[in-house]
Amino acid sequence: MSDRVIATVDLAAIRHNLQQVRRFAPGSRVMAAVKADAYGHGAVPVARTLEAAGVDALAVACIEEALELREAHVRAPIALLEGVLSAEEATLAAYERLQIVLNDFWQIDLLESMPPSASLQIWFKLDSGMHRLGFPLSAVPRLQAVLERNRGWRFCGWMTHLACADEPDSPMTLNQIGAFDAALVDRSGARSIGNSAGILGWPQARREWVRPGLVLYGASPLPGRVGPQLGLKPALTLTSRLIARRDYPEGSSIGYGGGYACPEAMPIGVAAVGYADGIHRSLACGAPVLIGGRRAPLAGRVSMDMITLDLRPAPEARVGDEVLLWGEGLPAEEVAAHAGTLAYELFCGLTNRVRFRYINVT
Ligand SMILES: Cc1ncc(COP(=O)(O)O)c(C=O)c1O
Repeated sequence: MSDRVIATVDLAAIRHNLQQVRRFAPGSRVMAAVKADAYGHGAVPVARTLEAAGVDALAVACIEEALELREAHVRAPIALLEGVLSAEEATLAAYERLQIVLNDFWQIDLLESMPPSASLQIWFKLDSGMHRLGFPLSAVPRLQAVLERNRGWRFCGWMTHLACADEPDSPMTLNQIGAFDAALVDRSGARSIGNSAGILGWPQARREWVRPGLVLYGASPLPGRVGPQLGLKPALTLTSRLIARRDYPEGSSIGYGGGYACPEAMPIGVAAVGYADGIHRSLACGAPVLIGGRRAPLAGRVSMDMITLDLRPAPEARVGDEVLLWGEGLPAEEVAAHAGTLAYELFCGLTNRVRFRYINVT
């Protein structure tokens, strides 16, 4: 690992974004999604930061992610969003005081086949319309019966996940919320509905618990809006350096496949970052980077270790200058759109060739 590509993670931004979530959903407890290595930001430093800032719980996808946090002495409640896959995982989950999000009856059978444990903590995830994970809403009476015959289990609450919360005009979200509420009339237990888009776009989705992920990292889940417009601060800034600069005559083709033709005599810069670092190969010509605060467009295809840039907007750029790929001053949401994807995927796609640096640790 060298200093050619650096991800600078500002932990103060994570704290700030948590505060913003609390502002958006006052009165809700916050379960922060730190799965997928905290969306590529580094699970342990992010979880420690959130824990110190008083987050109410953390959420990961699977037991390995939870164990990594426990090994790093993160003591906050941690929910396993996909539940457990075996008796061994369930035993570990009980031992490590993890909250198991149950989504199917085979998982209940698994837990009921284990010796009774006072440390089992469970959520029920209901499928209110996303049709990915979760019990059908009609199963609520059966689930209530499960709770009644397993009084030693600690019941954390009822959870559902929104399929279209980032689509303000879709009727899906209100349908899901309505169906979830109707299925739970007269049932006790906390509720949790909203992810980032639910928290920002749908006040109706705020319940005892909210489950933000993306917004904690400073990016917007809402189309046409970037994080800073919503009061969020991007937590990760990805930078590289210019390692070459050449002047080419009009008509010169640049990079693999001659993917870019110089429309005039112009300077082309080469930055030391490519798809082996996590820059999507689908990033289109014209996608911006920042050099000295100026936007310079990508000129030519992304290669494994390098990208080529049109330096006309930054004619004074020299070898050694910093090239900012996304983050402070250039929202990842905007860059992602040039690759036909979302900030989520850019964040999760950074590879182990990128050096991570944490600032504002306390
Ligand atoms: C069940 C569940 N809750 C919450 C989240 C957080 O979502 P977001 O990052 O959109 O806030 C996720 C992420 O996929 C999830 O699967």
